[in-house]
Amino acid sequence: MRTGKSVFELEQEQLKTLPKNKNKESEKDYSTYFQGPSMIDGKKRKTVAEHIQYALENGFRGIGEGKSYHIMTYGCQMNEHDTEVMAGIFMQLGYTPTEVIEEADVVLLNTCAIRENAENKVFGELGFLLKYKRKNPEMLIGVCGCMSQEESVVNKILRSYPHVDMVFGTHNIHRLPNILKEAYMSKEMVIEVWSKEGDVIENLPKKRLGSIKAWVNIMYGCDKFCTYCIVPYTRGKERSRRPEEIIAEVRELAAAGYKEIMLLGQNVNAYGKDFEDIDYRLGDLMDELRKIDIPRIRFTTSHPRDFDDHLIEVLAKRGNLVEHIHLPVQSGSNDVLKIMARKYTREHFLGLVDRIKAAIPEVTLTTDIIVGYPNETEEQFEETLSLYREVGFDAAFTYIYSPREGTPAAKMIDNVPEEVKKERLQRLNEVVGEYSRKALERLNGQVVEVLVEGTSKRRDDVLAGYTRKNRLVNFKAPAEVIGQLVKVKITETTSYSLTGEFVEVVKNEKVEA
Ligand code: SAH
Ligand code: SF4
Ligand code: F3S
Repeated sequence: MRTGKSVFELEQEQLKTLPKNKNKESEKDYSTYFQGPSMIDGKKRKTVAEHIQYALENGFRGIGEGKSYHIMTYGCQMNEHDTEVMAGIFMQLGYTPTEVIEEADVVLLNTCAIRENAENKVFGELGFLLKYKRKNPEMLIGVCGCMSQEESVVNKILRSYPHVDMVFGTHNIHRLPNILKEAYMSKEMVIEVWSKEGDVIENLPKKRLGSIKAWVNIMYGCDKFCTYCIVPYTRGKERSRRPEEIIAEVRELAAAGYKEIMLLGQNVNAYGKDFEDIDYRLGDLMDELRKIDIPRIRFTTSHPRDFDDHLIEVLAKRGNLVEHIHLPVQSGSNDVLKIMARKYTREHFLGLVDRIKAAIPEVTLTTDIIVGYPNETEEQFEETLSLYREVGFDAAFTYIYSPREGTPAAKMIDNVPEEVKKERLQRLNEVVGEYSRKALERLNGQVVEVLVEGTSKRRDDVLAGYTRKNRLVNFKAPAEVIGQLVKVKITETTSYSLTGEFVEVVKNEKVEA
């Protein structure tokens, strides 16, 4: 065993004397990277974000020649996009990707901390990887992503998973070359987790997973501190990328033939709040992006509190801005919303929905809901059901509340039994299914615009793609239409998908269907 908890504690003591946020100077001060996370520091919101240009130092070029990497991703779309960045860095270093885990020279687990089951999957996989490591001791195993930002997780890895070679967090993925080099040289587990507000790193290489749809970060972090949520601790404070950087990236993607952009942020409606020199918000950004010649632009995730009227006005111009908004509500009860610290009421949410529907009558709204919040009563849960019906969401991601260590909700006494939580989830899912089925039924016989992504997961002779409102459509057509926008007449609907007949390729891609 390489190291134990006591060593970690000792190292942490030593680290207290080192500068908290490592900068260029302090990096020279110590050669073994051993900086564990701190949930307290992760909460700090002090300095203004620095905008830094990434550049690969010459000394690292070629360190991956003849070697392969494999990345497993467990989290949200931001996490998946981080994987694209890390894959880009691996390629720059000379590594090649492999799908065969046991043959990989480096295996990274890009983790998610949002709920307990997400974390359990990672620990399960780490146990499994031990077998490969025994066969090939040269294999480097790394843990990165949101779980690495949690003290309890890093302690557990040190105690129980000594075959892990590197742990690094969400703020320093651009230091992957340094961390890899250190891991090759060191006999100790290399730990480099920065618990800080976070910077904005530009010019990062990306190996995108697809050639039709692309993710583009517009901002990082979250300052909302909903009482149940770990994200503000693992991802740092809200900080926006400069509009010119985003616009340039979207233009490049359009020129490269991408057809759809998903703009990413934990709370995209806070975009621009942190700019000190310009008054520029999400509505302004969308107004510029809609002029770029690319068929579809979406964003996720919206926070109901910061969703302003200018944004609604701009979205109503449509064009490449799709008529689908994912608007997580979490609960329909004012009491629960208050304890969750969502900072809006049921009435505010319904008012926002009314304004959106007035401006964009055909809009599709989807949401996220948590059931079984500590002490949630039957009446409060029923208020969530009634809100769901009142809004008439098309779909929802629904979750049972999962306590996250270090968050205020985890300290609350919870009197809702597990069976009640499960039963509420089931009842909610029935309502969700009913509304989803009805929304899809209404499309029967209609012609919709589909961006064809490839063959269906189940059948090779069937193509699949998504509508502007993000509904999955299966249909038969020649494979040449993959990557194009086509018109499909819907002939059959289920609760979650649509089946149709191919009509024609959309000639003018700007045409709305
Ligand atoms: N930033 C987004 C959500 C990010 S997390 C927003 O605020 O809308 C995605 C979803 O996971 C949340 O909307 C919430 O429904 C769910 N979630 C977050 N923390 C959770 C927890 N501790 N237990 C259960 N679900 C949780
Ligand atoms: Fe979490 Fe709330 Fe921030 Fe969403 S807005 S990431 S739920 S703290
Ligand atoms: Fe999970 Fe981190 Fe995303 S906790 S949901 S991977 S921001």
